[in-house]
Parts: sequence; C-alpha cells; structure tokens
Amino acid sequence: MTDLAQLELDLINAIGSAESVAAVEEVRVAALGKSGSVSGLLKGMGALSPDARREQGPLINGLRDRVSAAIAARKAELEADELDARLLAERVDLTLPPRPRRKGGVHPTMQVMDEMVAIFAEMGFAVAEGPDVEDDFHNFTALNFPPKHPAREMHDTFFLKPDPQTGERKVLRTHTSPVQVRTMMSQQPPIRIIAPGRTFRKDSDATHTPMFHQIEGLVIDRDIHMGHLKTTLQTFIGRFFELDEVQARFRPHHFPFTEPSAEMDIRCDRSGGQLTFNTGDDWLEILGCGMVHPNVLSACGLDPNEWQGFAFGMGVDRLAMLKYGVPDLRPMFDADTRWLAHYGFSAFAAPNPASGLS
Ligand code: PHE
Repeated sequence: MTDLAQLELDLINAIGSAESVAAVEEVRVAALGKSGSVSGLLKGMGALSPDARREQGPLINGLRDRVSAAIAARKAELEADELDARLLAERVDLTLPPRPRRKGGVHPTMQVMDEMVAIFAEMGFAVAEGPDVEDDFHNFTALNFPPKHPAREMHDTFFLKPDPQTGERKVLRTHTSPVQVRTMMSQQPPIRIIAPGRTFRKDSDATHTPMFHQIEGLVIDRDIHMGHLKTTLQTFIGRFFELDEVQARFRPHHFPFTEPSAEMDIRCDRSGGQLTFNTGDDWLEILGCGMVHPNVLSACGLDPNEWQGFAFGMGVDRLAMLKYGVPDLRPMFDADTRWLAHYGFSAFAAPNPASGLS
C-alpha cells in the first residue's frame, strides 16, 4: 500500500521546486494525468473491499484536491513572475532620443531648386514647365536662332530620330529657354515666371554631364529695363548665398534670344582652396541673362513696342555644388546611396522663407 502521506509530501515538494510553468505541468501529468500516480490510486479503489474503499476514498480524494490546489497556486505564481520578467524585458524608455533611421535624402540639386523656387515665389514669380522633348521651333527658331546657324550645333544637341511621316526631328531641350516661348504663347503679360527643369547636351567631362538642370526666369511687362533685371538677380543671389551685399558685374555676352545679353559674375576670392564672396579680384560666373529680343517677342505674338522683358538662365547643379561644397559634378548623377547619405538633405526640412532656406 502506498504511503499516502509520503506521496503527498513528495508531490508538494516537487511542485514547490518547479521553476517554470512547464515544470509544474510535468508534475501535474505525473500525478494527475491518465497514468499519473494519484490517478492510479483512484483507479485502484474499484478493487478494494467496500470497507477499505470507504476509508481510503476520502483520503485519496483529499490528497488529489490538495495536490491540484498546490499545482494551481504554483502555476499562478510562476505565470505572474514570467509576466513581470517579460514586461521588464520589453520595457520601452520613451525618454530616449529617437534613433536616426534616415535611409533616403533629398538630392542637393532638388534642394537647391526648392530653395530657388521659394525665393522667387516671395518675389512674385510663378513656376512654369515645359517638356524635356522639344521641337525645333520652341528650342531654337522662336528663340531667334537663325536657320542652319552654328549656334544650333554649339549646343551639342541630342536629336531624336526623324518622324517617318513629317521628317521632323525633335530634340532633347538644350536649355530651359523654350519654356519662355511656351509661356508667352499661352498667357498674356504681365508675366513673371521661373521654369526649373532638366536639360541635355552632348557633353561629358569633369564639369559637364549630358543631363543637367537649369532654372529659367522670364519677366514681361511694360517699361521693363536692365535695372529691373540687375536688381532682381542681385536680390536673388544675395538671398541664395545668404549674403548681405552682392558685388556683381554684368559682362557683355551673346545669346540669340536676348539683346543686350550679359553674364553675371560675382566677386570672389579662391586663394587657399576656399571660395569667399565679395572679396578678391576673381569673378565667378553665375548665370546668363538679357533683355528679351524683339524677334522673340514677335515670334510669340507679342508686340515689342508694347511689351518688354528680361530673361535669365542658370545651371542649378553648379550652384548646388558651389553652395554646399560638392567637389565633383559627375557623382551627382551616379545614384550612389552613400553619396546621397553624405550630401542629401532631410525630406522633412523643405526650404521656405519662414523656417529657413538651407
Ligand atoms: N539659355 C541660356 C543657356 O542655356 C541661358 C539664358 C537664359 C541666357 C535666358 C539669357 C536668357 O546658356
């Protein structure tokens, strides 16, 4: 006959020393499971005499109840411990600073375009657009490039295959100036627009890539003169490079679509491998500009006796390099994420005049 007191003691000890819910479950199966020690005792009662059964029954049932209760209590205790441990392990310290997880970034060219748009928007300019694939009329003819003139070749133009029906050869626009034409032909003056976009020339070396970006500007109104052009550009460059004054010169130049034409330079010093503005005897070429040629106004359906205007165009990538110290042009378009991680800008810091432009 099993010593009930000894069995109970063993089971209670085993339950007490079980260190996990799973270990308690093992004890439960060993005692109360189908072929467990306590279940075995209960099954064996059928073979006892009625007297013995009357005596043993309550003892075994009592043992079973106490063991069950001990198991339930130990399980509850261990479950509470396990929950505490889990809560502790999964605790999040909300006072820690967030980890920077920036994967992408805004390309310096796009950042600078946004900056330019923000500055010109404050000066009352709207943004206009045109297609990357242009026709000869908008890219050259309406802009006063004479037919067969070498200037068309000068631009190192990418020509598309001729149209099988018309023989027309479209081009990848060589500058953003065709947007001037599109704007003058589709809206009435006064006009005050800028046109940022992609441009293409068959050119590839340390300072040229076949695809680059320009921003065009166009103002058409009555009585517009060079003074308006100079003030507008000087104000813009000052804002863009965050300078209080801008020592600029307007050097005579030639573009078919402006007369007079000029290139704007800012005074700079390049000694010691550092670029500083407004000191020194060097000049940094920044942009091309001029008064819109009367032939261009006429080609766009505007009377040059009634309307005048000025236009300007500048290379965005080059200005981005100057402003943000990017040393080499070509990696700008390599799509190397390491380059972008270094030179890119946060997408959550879009430039605007109120919170800052750069
Ligand atoms: N389109 C000229 C260029 O690509 C720049 C320019 C624009 C000059 C407008 C004058 C006026 O070089």
